[in-house]
Amino acid sequence: MLQKNVSLSSNTTLKTGGVASYYVELVDEAGLVEAADFILEQNLPYLVLGGGSNLLVSDHGFSGVVLKMLNKGRDYQDQDDATVVLSVAAGEVLDDVIADTVSRGLWGLENLSSIPGTVGAVPIQNVGAYGVEASSVVHSVDVYHLPTKTKKVFTNSECNFGYRDSFFKSEIGREYIITKVNFILTKKYQPKISYADLAKKFLDVTPTQLEVRDALIKIRAEKFPDWRVLGTAGSFFKNPIVANEVGEALRLCYPDLPVYVVDNNRAKLPLGYILDKVCNLKGFRVGDVGLYEAQALVLVNYKNATAAEIISFVKIVSEKVFEKTKIIIEPEVQFVGEFL
Ligand code: EPU
Repeated sequence: MLQKNVSLSSNTTLKTGGVASYYVELVDEAGLVEAADFILEQNLPYLVLGGGSNLLVSDHGFSGVVLKMLNKGRDYQDQDDATVVLSVAAGEVLDDVIADTVSRGLWGLENLSSIPGTVGAVPIQNVGAYGVEASSVVHSVDVYHLPTKTKKVFTNSECNFGYRDSFFKSEIGREYIITKVNFILTKKYQPKISYADLAKKFLDVTPTQLEVRDALIKIRAEKFPDWRVLGTAGSFFKNPIVANEVGEALRLCYPDLPVYVVDNNRAKLPLGYILDKVCNLKGFRVGDVGLYEAQALVLVNYKNATAAEIISFVKIVSEKVFEKTKIIIEPEVQFVGEFL
């Protein structure tokens, strides 16, 4: 049922923003088709909402239709002796699905444990953590093209995955509503524990899948605030990809700065480190907005920060980073609505 003037701050983990002119919860295809008819008749913009865990919504809200994906369903299909394709409805909670795969001994998603949000968001952002990106486990994505009311399946390569990026973030890509994600999982023992935080936990042991998941839940609890308590959207910025020389120059002063190779010419730098050790901004706070004490890349809305206050804080932080490093940083969260 279509609702009017629904608060988006209570529907996002950063807890900012005005209202959506229209809001509808979708549990099945019939609801989606009905919503599409309304959107097309009224010629309105639309926004797909999953867990709302990566959005900064403007204080002016969203003048259009918010489609809240609440469709559920999981289906496991054996491909061969070792491989299973898991098809999951977009509205399923990602971490519930991961817990289920771990209980069945199916490897692939466990490193994404404890990431908030729903399954539909996974391919859009190419969600990644602790050495695994969605692109390595997504088999294909079922979508509904709202302007033409047609269904399609995107293969992994058609998703055009990049670092926190995919086809679905492009202008045309936004026309597609993800209804189901198909993951490719394996029954073979396949722990991915080379990421520093994880490697430290398993120096001389070969962990079970449940031990990997439990370790990640603990690591994340130490680094990220609980979104049920504080406003947060995880990493607020992307880690910048820079020319090799930029990384090398910074390493002269900060020899322990980790540098991740991207290709022959470029490297990805951990902005959390730069904010913390180069700019001394860990814990930096203006009013109700701050950089989290345990992880500087995480922006926190301590209580009642407005989106405008967050934007002005982000501007200060970006300027400080530029002053110290000449690096231009970009947000990782998606902005919704008008920010003029
Ligand atoms: N660091 C500091 N101080 C800080 C924060 C980080 O020195 O305050 C250092 C760490 O010690 C480490 C390096 O910076 O050497 C990188 O930090 P970390 O391993 O915590 O990862 P990150 O680069 O800050 C990225 C993702 C996270 C993901 C983690 C783990 C992005 C934008 N963020 O963070 O993803 O969970 O790696 O894989 O790529 C998200 O996208 O919302 C997110 C949380």
